[in-house]
Amino acid sequence: MNIKDHIREVPDFPKPGILFYDISTLLMHPAAWRHTVEQLAEAMAPHKPDLLAGIESRGFLVSAPLALKLGCGFIMLRKKGKLPGATVKHSYDLEYGTDTIEIQEGAVQPGQKVVLVDDLLATGGTMAAAAHLIRKVGGVVPAAACIIELTFLNGRSKLDMPVTTLAQYD
Ligand code: PRP
Ligand code: MG
Repeated sequence: MNIKDHIREVPDFPKPGILFYDISTLLMHPAAWRHTVEQLAEAMAPHKPDLLAGIESRGFLVSAPLALKLGCGFIMLRKKGKLPGATVKHSYDLEYGTDTIEIQEGAVQPGQKVVLVDDLLATGGTMAAAAHLIRKVGGVVPAAACIIELTFLNGRSKLDMPVTTLAQYD
C-alpha cells in the first residue's frame, strides 16, 4: 500500500505556484487510511506516550484515531480563543506576523510523555511551537508524527525530537 497514491496534489493552492498535498482523498479510502494510522502507531508505540497532542485542525484528524490505536489520551492544541476554561498560550513568529496556540490548563501533568501529531511538516514552525507549549506546561516530548513531510523546507532542522513521516516530497 503506497500512501502517496492516495494523496491528491492540487496545483496553485492556496496561492499560485504552491503545490498543495491534500489528505482528503486519503481519508476517503478506508484501507489506505487504516494503513496510515497503523504505520504511525507502529512508529510511535516504542515512545510509550501518555498522551498525543493533536495540532488544530488537520492534526486532529490524525491524532484521534492514532490515540485510540495506541490506547492513550488525546489533547488538543488549538488556535487562540477556541478552548473553554483556563488555558496556557504560546505565541510564535510567522513569515508575516505572529500566531498563538493554546492548551487547557491541567491537560498535561508534569513529566507526562506527549507525542505531537499533525498531518504535514512544512517549515516546522507549527511543530516547534507545539513542542514549546507542551514543555512550558511540564510535558516531555519524546517524538512527533506527521503523514507528509515537505523535505525541501527542512522543517526538521527546527525540531529537537525524532520525527516520523510517511510520505516525503522534495
Ligand atoms: C498546515 C499543516 C500544518 C502546518 C505546517 O496547517 O496542517 O499544521 O500548516 O506548516 P509549518 O510546518 O510550516 O508550520 P494550516 O495552518 O494550513 O491549518 P489547518 O491544519 O487548520 O488546515
Ligand atoms: Mg495544520
